[in-house]
Amino acid sequence: MKTEEILKKNESSDTVKGTIGRRSVIGWFWKVVGALAVIEMGWITSSVLRSSQHSKTDTSKELVDVGMVAEFTPGTVTPVPLGQFHLACLADGSFLALSKSCTHLGCSVPWDEKKKKFVCPCHGSTFDLHGVVLTAPALRPLDYYPVFIENGLVRVDVSKPMRRDAFGPTQTSRV
Ligand code: FES
Repeated sequence: MKTEEILKKNESSDTVKGTIGRRSVIGWFWKVVGALAVIEMGWITSSVLRSSQHSKTDTSKELVDVGMVAEFTPGTVTPVPLGQFHLACLADGSFLALSKSCTHLGCSVPWDEKKKKFVCPCHGSTFDLHGVVLTAPALRPLDYYPVFIENGLVRVDVSKPMRRDAFGPTQTSRV
């Protein structure tokens, strides 16, 4: 073989080795990039799922802490300005959270301690301790909010007032 031919062959062999080496490095580079992309997608997906679960929990309840069970006497009503509701402690010790909004035209209804009933200042509707209508023009009971008792603490979910046609024990909560 001539020297020229030998040199060409060696050059071409080096070129092939160099190409294979570069291809191998590029191949590994893309594998690493692909793996990182998969990891990042997994992280993004889990973050989105976690945040949507959080927001569900956060928006499903808006709890207002009213006080410890022992602080309330059966047969009394405590106005809670922060939540725009009254907390009634019924004769059996259970709790009922009543909206302050009159079911006639929405005036704020205070509890009259002397008369032992809610008296609307706008058109005179009255409601008993359970929020049930005693005197028209209001036709349906005051709306209520779910009450939760956790470790002796009375908590009221004010996220949405519950409409009702009558009083029932499922509207109350007790220890
Ligand atoms: S708004 Fe209460 S009686 Fe009319």
